[in-house]
Amino acid sequence: MTQLFSGIPAAPLDPIMALNDAFAADARPGKLNLVVGVYSDGAGKVPRLRAVQQAEAAWLGKALPKTYRPIEGTKPYRDAVQALLFGAPLPRATTLQALGGTGALRVGAEVLKALRPDAAVAVSTPSWENHKALFAQAGFAVVDYPYFDAATGGVDFAGMAAALEALPEGSVVVLHGCCHNPTGADLSPEQWRSVVALCGRRGLVPFLDVAYQGFGAGLEEDALAVRLFAESGQEFLVASSFSKSFSLYGERVGAITFAAGSEGDAAKVHALAKRLVRVNYSNPPTHGAALVETVLTTPALRAEWEAELGEMRQRIQQMRVRMADSLQQRHPGRGFDAIKRQRGMFSYSGITPAEAQAMRARHGVYALDTGRICVAALNEGNIGTALDAVSAALEG
Ligand code: LMR
Repeated sequence: MTQLFSGIPAAPLDPIMALNDAFAADARPGKLNLVVGVYSDGAGKVPRLRAVQQAEAAWLGKALPKTYRPIEGTKPYRDAVQALLFGAPLPRATTLQALGGTGALRVGAEVLKALRPDAAVAVSTPSWENHKALFAQAGFAVVDYPYFDAATGGVDFAGMAAALEALPEGSVVVLHGCCHNPTGADLSPEQWRSVVALCGRRGLVPFLDVAYQGFGAGLEEDALAVRLFAESGQEFLVASSFSKSFSLYGERVGAITFAAGSEGDAAKVHALAKRLVRVNYSNPPTHGAALVETVLTTPALRAEWEAELGEMRQRIQQMRVRMADSLQQRHPGRGFDAIKRQRGMFSYSGITPAEAQAMRARHGVYALDTGRICVAALNEGNIGTALDAVSAALEG
């Protein structure tokens, strides 16, 4: 008899999903989940967006056959993804539908592995927990570059630039296009210009993760980094996701975009990526992508969606201000005012692992041990609980 599975060492737990599971298992009624990057509305519910509901009703009404979707997704979907990223489809780029942002990163990683198996992949310190794990699992050596400056709650740009400058030519650099996860600290437009020039000069391969377009300053504003790379003529990759912006987390709707040096090269990378998808999951799912496609290509639904995205962005910003002002007042000197300047769903609050553990144990308020807080889960009804838990933990 084979003993295939008995010797498997315990697999490392993903800190985000493991804590999310612990939250689900917590029986306390007043518990609060500030762990996972999911937006909740003012009533604490994960919203079903109005535009998406209308698209879904129309879609279901058609009762279309559930045949295979093209391996790369449909052309209107792929064009709509590029229009959001680049302002209009970019002829030297090709896009394939992917299984959310994570699936997009994985397809991109596999393409890179086929082309540059020995490249190092540089990831910001800190970064989304799954970045390192995903690129390591794809067979890459993963290295760090400095990013967060705990003293200011912003970006250690000098440290970042020096580290990127020192990477061997051909290294892959994972960059958060907007709304850095987990810190919420973004580069300024000037800093982006420097990074784009640096990547071009040093022959690095930028891989942008764009999971939060529309949650920072706006759909167009949040595309600045992608557009600067597009203008530069460099080759680069973009993993993008509609999980957050369409509140369609479970549908796994995303895309991987390869910006090549020419249309001919785009066709080559397209064929390679398509092959890698075919031997992995074959074809992407239809439902979520069809809804996104309908919303993005129907002017009235598109306008409604943009308004809803704006509402989400503004509500997060209000919660940021409330949280920052209140904590700053209660605990001056801990630098909580940075929460106001950070962007997107998360903030690196400066809470220590011991404080995060105390918040969980005493109040059932769950945040990552790194101090990352999902500001997008706060509302008028629960922010008091969150603030009290943070304060109590800080007071020991
Ligand atoms: C997060 O960072 O919480 C989200 O991106 C969800 C995830 O997949 O980890």
